[in-house]
Amino acid sequence: MITDSMSPLSAKSNNKQKFSPYALPDYLVKHYWWAYLSPLGVNFFDHGFMVNRILWGNYHAIAQDAVNVIVSQSAQKVAGISSAYGEFYPNLAQQRQVDNLYLFDIAPIQIKQMQKKIPRHIIEKKCQLFVGDAEHIALTKQSVDTSVLFFLLHELPKAVRGNVLAQAIGITKAGGRLVIADYAQFKGTHLFHRNKLFRTIFESVEPFLANFWGCDLLSEIKEQANVQRRTIKLTHEQYYFDGFYRLLELTIE
Ligand SMILES: C[S@@+](CC[C@H](N)C(=O)[O-])C[C@H]1O[C@@H](n2cnc3c(N)ncnc32)[C@H](O)[C@@H]1O
Repeated sequence: MITDSMSPLSAKSNNKQKFSPYALPDYLVKHYWWAYLSPLGVNFFDHGFMVNRILWGNYHAIAQDAVNVIVSQSAQKVAGISSAYGEFYPNLAQQRQVDNLYLFDIAPIQIKQMQKKIPRHIIEKKCQLFVGDAEHIALTKQSVDTSVLFFLLHELPKAVRGNVLAQAIGITKAGGRLVIADYAQFKGTHLFHRNKLFRTIFESVEPFLANFWGCDLLSEIKEQANVQRRTIKLTHEQYYFDGFYRLLELTIE
């Protein structure tokens, strides 16, 4: 299932891998080192209540709804395209409808952190946690039922976003799904969209958010699917916090 030499960091391994076989991307090192690469940042942010504050009290609902969407189908092979803070993946991994969870992140520290959060017997039974790049996903083409992008896309430069979407589509089986939780498109109606001070704060902490807000995500996904001669259909959408965040389920043929 894992297609190249990335060694899965399962609970059985000695976890001696300290260095990423990939160079960390510039956008991550330059803009997000404090949140995802620094041990202090990881310890500080990786708590459900912290992520819930960052998402203005909406984290638990979004995370639970995303799990519910994924487990609405049984016997799921799920790809977690980058790690996430809080209990989303540990909760998902423990669902009986999830047969396998292939969860990777480009930062080794994130994988080590995830190993601490998912119970050992669950990792041994059905998880592969490994260091990997979402722009070059080390999973077989059309091998998973569901690919999950949990608040990753808004943190990526536009070109990287396109590559990641292409990869996510590529690894997902015909009849499988993309599940995406992230900021909703900018409509200019939410207070945080209208108010310049809020916009400035958001955009200084999240340098790629303005582009993400302004993009037509569904069109971008369809474009990437077309290139692969696949088709995409939006099968579920849910909005939070007056349309500030959204959860999407897209079925891929
Ligand atoms: C999923 S997003 C964060 C989501 C949100 N802030 C949360 O924790 O719920 C952040 C993760 O993406 C990872 N990441 C960024 N670019 C990546 C890439 N190209 N490949 C794999 N992981 C990547 C970072 O290392 C980080 O762990």
